[in-house]
Amino acid sequence: MDFADVVRARYSCRAYEDRPVEDDKLQRILEAARLAPSASNRQEWRFVVVRDAAKRQALVKVARDQAFVGQAPIVIAACAKTNGHVMSCGHRCDIIDVAIALEHIALAAANEGLGTCWIGAFFQDKAKELLGIPDDVPVIELMTLGYPADSPKPKSRLALDEIVMYDAWRS
Ligand SMILES: Cc1cc2nc3c(=O)[nH]c(=O)nc-3n(C[C@H](O)[C@H](O)[C@H](O)COP(=O)(O)O)c2cc1C
Repeated sequence: MDFADVVRARYSCRAYEDRPVEDDKLQRILEAARLAPSASNRQEWRFVVVRDAAKRQALVKVARDQAFVGQAPIVIAACAKTNGHVMSCGHRCDIIDVAIALEHIALAAANEGLGTCWIGAFFQDKAKELLGIPDDVPVIELMTLGYPADSPKPKSRLALDEIVMYDAWRS
């Protein structure tokens, strides 16, 4: 798919077919995450790929009863193996780096005809407990992955001239 088409094709998929994702597709999608950029090439991202049916069902509660989380054949817990490094700009890099890699996953999935949804509404402590993730490894986000059983809605976005300023801030 053309890159602009991939960007347009990605949407938050909240219904999934009862159909497994082929392993070659999954590996290509994970490879897209592996190649993502990160601050000083730290690569703090770690991905727990959840395919086990019982664990996916348990993730519904972890994700505050979002039922489609249990429907998706794969849920990825994107974690950071981090020392909490703060860049000179004042921001922690771990969350940024993991988020970039996760969006690589979302775009690569769209390119494979698969759906994803970012899941930020989840209980951190329950996710760690279910998946055996150590205390010092934050779960940054969850992401569902699978064949879509819904369709994208028209995108609701601000216009470019509302979000872009050239050369200086414009109030
Ligand atoms: C960091 C982040 C967290 C999100 N958490 C959730 C979530 O918990 N549940 C959900 O259904 N959608 C979640 N979303 C999806 C957004 O609602 C969605 O991206 C936004 O409404 C734009 O729609 P689109 O992705 O279809 O273009 C999240 C998105 C992001 C980027």
